[in-house]
Amino acid sequence: MLSKKMQDALNGQLNAEMYSAYLYLSMSAYLESINLPGFAAWMRVQASEEMKHAMKFYGHVNDRRGRVTLAAIQAPPAEWSSPLNVFEEVYKHEQKVTGLIHGLVKLAEAEGDRAAGAFLQWFVTEQVEEEASADVLVQKLKLVGDQAGPLFMLDHELGQREAGGD
Ligand code: FEO
Repeated sequence: MLSKKMQDALNGQLNAEMYSAYLYLSMSAYLESINLPGFAAWMRVQASEEMKHAMKFYGHVNDRRGRVTLAAIQAPPAEWSSPLNVFEEVYKHEQKVTGLIHGLVKLAEAEGDRAAGAFLQWFVTEQVEEEASADVLVQKLKLVGDQAGPLFMLDHELGQREAGGD
């Protein structure tokens, strides 16, 4: 049985994942606006993965005979100063999400909720990947600096990212 406290926290994370999707979609729109369609496509795939994360929480709460409730999604920022600034913010955001996931794991332990604990393990692993992939792009963009040629090559590379992961 899902406790009320655990249910509220899982619904809160559903909302946080929806916000991540919204944030990355807004970043995608910004990247389109500065003529980097490959970066924009990469970010749209990222946004759709966040929707899948949200739906995992939706599914878990329902599977446990809990009640999903949806709260308002905060509006994301619309402007950034550069592609590097975008990915620095992605990295920071993912670190924040990792903290939220770890908080949920602690709550599941405190509540003796082994099912939620097992469910959350997937996210603990996923966050390692999420932080690593954002950090790699921050480092690449720092190397690229203001050089248009390498930036367009990286844009082409990122445009190859395929949808379909989690
Ligand atoms: Fe849902 Fe990017 O973590």
